[in-house]
Amino acid sequence: MPRILIIDDEPGIRESVAMILEYEGYETDAAESGEDGIELVRSGQFDAILLDINMPGIDGFETLKRIKEIDKNLNIVIISAYGNIENAIKATRTGAFDFLEKPVDRDKLLITVRNASEQAILKKEYESIKKEIDTPSPILGESKPMKAILEVVGKVAPTDARVLILGENGTGKELIAKALHANSPRAAAPFVEVNCAAIPNELIESELFGHEKGAFTGALNQRIGKFELADKGTLFLDEIGDMSLQAQAKVLRAIEDGLIERVGGTKKIPVDVRIVSATNRDLKEMIVKAEFREDLFHRLNVIPVQLPPLRERTEDIPVLVQHFAQEISLKHKKIVPTFAEDAITLLQKLKWTGNVRELRNIIERIIILANAPVIKLSDIDFLLPVEKVSVDDLISESSSFQDFKDKAEKAYILRQLELNGWNISKTADDLDIQRSHLYNKLKKYGIEKGE
Ligand SMILES: Nc1ncnc2c1ncn2[C@@H]1O[C@H](COP(=O)(O)OP(=O)(O)OP(=O)(O)O)[C@@H](O)[C@H]1O
Ligand SMILES: [Mg+2]
Repeated sequence: MPRILIIDDEPGIRESVAMILEYEGYETDAAESGEDGIELVRSGQFDAILLDINMPGIDGFETLKRIKEIDKNLNIVIISAYGNIENAIKATRTGAFDFLEKPVDRDKLLITVRNASEQAILKKEYESIKKEIDTPSPILGESKPMKAILEVVGKVAPTDARVLILGENGTGKELIAKALHANSPRAAAPFVEVNCAAIPNELIESELFGHEKGAFTGALNQRIGKFELADKGTLFLDEIGDMSLQAQAKVLRAIEDGLIERVGGTKKIPVDVRIVSATNRDLKEMIVKAEFREDLFHRLNVIPVQLPPLRERTEDIPVLVQHFAQEISLKHKKIVPTFAEDAITLLQKLKWTGNVRELRNIIERIIILANAPVIKLSDIDFLLPVEKVSVDDLISESSSFQDFKDKAEKAYILRQLELNGWNISKTADDLDIQRSHLYNKLKKYGIEKGE
């Protein structure tokens, strides 16, 4: 419940106001002078303050000023004698939240205190969320490829070199882009993101370069484009492989000249941006098909960063699981669970086509559903591919003992392949047979990926 501080030299007011508020469930504290009130603000956590003006010692206005210096977010409601309009005006000018007349009307008091405390609580929440958003998430990974990537990021971040980040969905491309910016001398300037796949072709130019009023139907006002917004900072061109050839040509020109032109504009505007781009598409293949400009590719690809899929760096899974478990438990106000060893082993065997993002979502689901201090294999066996054949079916479908054995072997191999994300070497290891032997079996049973 919100905590309210009442500062008034009249004991009668302190008591009656406290009684009204406490009856409604508020917690209250009281001080009989400005000086005492300021002391309490220094040591306590309040959501709103009721403050008298005429008091011995420092008056209400001075108290208000000093409290605002301690915590500018605290909402202060002035209570003063009836009819003193001047005081009311002065109070709001000095930063008071609202003004109440004595004798204090119960309903007005409750409404004002509720508004003042709710607004303060929202402000605090907003600031903590903002802080969370502004603190970059750590990039975790102990596998060899991730360590190598972190080393490159560390070296490239402080430079202005353009970086092209490649990798499947959810591998952490955006995370890397933000880290490059955060660790660059441009960190205090904006990081501006453009999702090229999400913007219709006919709008991408205006999105990137802005437009002048009346440049085209619907351009009712002037608009500043992302290149200009990112001036002195970093422009993150996400899903660059989805940009039309026409837009690619314009981006290339902007990069080469360091100048942009708003749609419908006449002057060239200099921009100083560092470009980081990302895609999950195969740009080289797109170049061959004339869908992506080779010259632009070389401009963007000064430093390539290739993020491997999660299934190729399963050593990273335990630390990612632990990190997500902590973060998610905190979010849902649950105790952080530990994961049993065999549960982790299962997580390491899955395909993770959605990579780290999919892993995070699954951990969230597990934590909510299992709701236990230790996550066991049985809590997560829903992740296993659905059993496709039952033994009864096998028996009734088999024409001979040999046929039954073959069918069972095929089903078993298929299951292991799925668990290992169709990694042949790992599956052969798990089955304890040679790779070549496994290939022979695949051929014999006509097993192909996707079956
Ligand atoms: N190495 C990592 N350490 C910690 N968290 C990670 C790591 N890689 C990815 N994540 C987290 O996984 C999620 C997906 O990452 P991100 O959005 O950067 O991926 P992406 O490659 O841009 O995906 P998409 O291709 O779908 O846009 C985010 O919540 C991100 O914080
Ligand atoms: Mg992304």
